[in-house]
Amino acid sequence: MRIVLLHGQNHKGSTYHVAHRIVDKIAGEKEITEFFFPRDLNHFCAGCYRCIEDVAACPFYAEKKVILDAIDAADLLVVTTPTYCMHVSAPLKAFIDLTFDLWMAHRPMASMFTKRAVIVSTAAGTGTRSAIRDVKDALFYMGVPEIVPYGISVQAMNWQQVPAKKKAKIEKDTDRIAKKLSSGKAPSVGIRTRFTFRMMGMLQKKGWNSSPIETAYWKEKGWLDGKKPWKERTT
Ligand SMILES: Cc1cc2nc3c(=O)[nH]c(=O)nc-3n(C[C@H](O)[C@H](O)[C@H](O)COP(=O)(O)O)c2cc1C
Repeated sequence: MRIVLLHGQNHKGSTYHVAHRIVDKIAGEKEITEFFFPRDLNHFCAGCYRCIEDVAACPFYAEKKVILDAIDAADLLVVTTPTYCMHVSAPLKAFIDLTFDLWMAHRPMASMFTKRAVIVSTAAGTGTRSAIRDVKDALFYMGVPEIVPYGISVQAMNWQQVPAKKKAKIEKDTDRIAKKLSSGKAPSVGIRTRFTFRMMGMLQKKGWNSSPIETAYWKEKGWLDGKKPWKERTT
C-alpha cells in the first residue's frame, strides 16, 4: 500500500505520533512518503487564479508538483493537524488553499476518487471536530470517497505529557482504524460523491465554470459523456 502523510506541522508531537500508530499497524507491505508543512510548502495562495488556466502556472508549482505526484500515486492519504484555535493549522490551511484548483468545481484528479484518507487531529481539550471538518471538506471536494476521521483530546502540549490512560485509548482506537484500512478492498463511492460529481459536470456542460479550460479537461476525461473517475483510473 502506498501511503502519503501530509502533516500540518513540522514537529513530531502528539498528532504525528497518533498518525504513526495507525500507519505502523496497517497490515502488509507499505511504501511511505511524508511531507511536512510548512517545511515542504512554505507559501500562501496569492489569489492570482493562474492555476485555473494552467495548473503549472501557480507561482509555487515546482514544490506543489512533488507533493501532488506523490498524492496521485498513493492508495491512502493520512492528513494530520494539531487543533489550533478550534481549526486546522495555518500551514495545512495554506496547502488546502494552494490546491483549490483540484476541487470538483474545477479540475479534480481522477485518482482521488479511488483513494481512502484518514484525518488525524489532536487537541488539548476541544476543537478536533471543527479542525477535522476543515480537512474533510477539502478531501471530499477533491473527490476522496472514503474518509476516516480520528480526533482526540490528549490533555497535553506534547506526546510525552499524554497521560498513560489516554495512550491506552489511542492504542485501542488506532488498532481498530488500522484494521479497517488493511482490508485492501477498493473504497466505496457514496451517494454524496456521486451526486456532487454529477452536479459539477452539469455546471461544466452549462458553461457555469471558471474557465473553458476546465470544460475541456472534463471533456477530455470523458466525464461529460458518462465516464466516472472511480470506474477507471485515467491519470
Ligand atoms: C496555537 C495553538 C492553538 C491551540 N488551540 C487549541 C484549541 O483550540 N483547542 C484545544 O483543545 N487545544 C488547542 N491547542 C493545544 C493543541 O491542540 C494540543 O496540545 C495538541 O495536542 C498539539 O498537538 P501536537 O503535539 O501534534 O503539536 C492549541 C495549541 C496551540 C499551539
